[in-house]
Amino acid sequence: MAETAKLELDGKQFDIPVVTGTENEKGLDITRLQASTGYITLDPGYANTGSCTSAITYIDGDKGILRYRGIDIAELCEKSTFMEVCYLLIYGELPTVEQFTKFKDKVLFHSLIHEDMKSFFTSYPGHAHPMAILSAMVCSLSVYHPELLKPDQSPHERDQTITRLLSKVRVLAAFAYKRSVGEAFVYSRPELDYLSNFMHMMFTTPVKLYEPDEVTRRALDVLFILHADHEQNCSTSTVRMVGSSKANLFASISAGICALWGPLHGGANQAVIEMLEAIAADGGNYKKFIDRAKDKNDPFRLMGFGHRIYKNYDPRAQIIKKHCDEVLGKLGIHDPILEIAKGLEEVALTDPYFIERKLYPNVDFYSGILYRAMKIPTNMFTVMFALGRLPGWIAHWKEMIEEPGMRIARPRQIYIGEQQRAYKPMEDR
Ligand code: CMC
Repeated sequence: MAETAKLELDGKQFDIPVVTGTENEKGLDITRLQASTGYITLDPGYANTGSCTSAITYIDGDKGILRYRGIDIAELCEKSTFMEVCYLLIYGELPTVEQFTKFKDKVLFHSLIHEDMKSFFTSYPGHAHPMAILSAMVCSLSVYHPELLKPDQSPHERDQTITRLLSKVRVLAAFAYKRSVGEAFVYSRPELDYLSNFMHMMFTTPVKLYEPDEVTRRALDVLFILHADHEQNCSTSTVRMVGSSKANLFASISAGICALWGPLHGGANQAVIEMLEAIAADGGNYKKFIDRAKDKNDPFRLMGFGHRIYKNYDPRAQIIKKHCDEVLGKLGIHDPILEIAKGLEEVALTDPYFIERKLYPNVDFYSGILYRAMKIPTNMFTVMFALGRLPGWIAHWKEMIEEPGMRIARPRQIYIGEQQRAYKPMEDR
């Protein structure tokens, strides 16, 4: 017999179906609650609300576990590539050689954007934040590809939309960067692999051709794999929310990029480096900043610390921290910011404030140090996160769109405003 929970309301008993996930996580299915009881549930910030069932990513925040399609994140970082992880997340299985070759060729092939789009980039002021440009440009793809906008696409049309977006987003990100530094746009070299081609579009100049280097490419592979999905986070939920109205993929992803930009989410990677630089400029006194983070009258928070789900060390931060030493060593870089970050972490992890609240470094704490080592400018860090998160957003959009009986996302509220009252003419107020 199906498991149920009993709810007693106004002297009456109601059965609430229990839903069990494949890792034995339990949830109460309250879909019919309002219709049968008149009550809704209230959960600001959705901290305890499952908005869907999903087969893409599993997280156990207490144990520090993260798996894509069942495969542990550390194993993927060690053995896989970002391109392969894109396939895994979007299509649900690791690809065969033939499937991978087909997928990769499609993604590598579409690495040009409509020439007219270039004029958009040049119309932005030089100081424009690349996240603003990226989200606008991704949405603008819908103008240039009307053939890919049908709300009820066939699987083939859906695949075309997905592979085009995966490919073109690198061009848009690189052009946004070129605009922000006032350099000429650089066209794609489709013979390069996905990430090297992106780095080429970023760093080739009229006087110097970017030479792909294995250390940087591998580090980028690992960072992007770590960013690739994180179940129902703020930006992914945004993509699902927008996509649930059957808005096209470009519009849905553009909304996700905007959500990611905030400093409490992906924007934290930029904020972390700015914080570490401020600590360095202040003479390296990180204890002072820890005290500020603990002071409830000070809005300052230790950026790159804390997580809604992880109440243990974020497994992604652990992997990035290990790579920081390795990559900086191989590239011959000594970054004093890394020492400050490690010192800050050491103090925070022994401080009762952080221990009691289970606040550990998250993915954004060390990722900026790696991006700096690759000469990625600070205001591009969140764009890098967006490029890495793209397959996750796409996978969730696809999972949702393909689900039989998908419904528009439409939460409820408890109204706490004025009761009905009469309109007063302005002169009587
Ligand atoms: N520094 C100081 N105190 C903190 C921090 C922090 N970074 N994070 C949480 N706290 C405190 C918070 O003040 C609260 O204390 P109290 O119980 O005394 O009121 C307690 O810890 C719980 O925090 P919360 O704000 O209720 O937790 P949340 O789940 O709503 O927020 C968070 C999660 C990630 C937004 C938050 O930890 C934070 O603001 N961290 C800094 C920003 C950051 O690094 N964001 C990146 C998140 S990971 C990547 C991603 O999502 O993209």
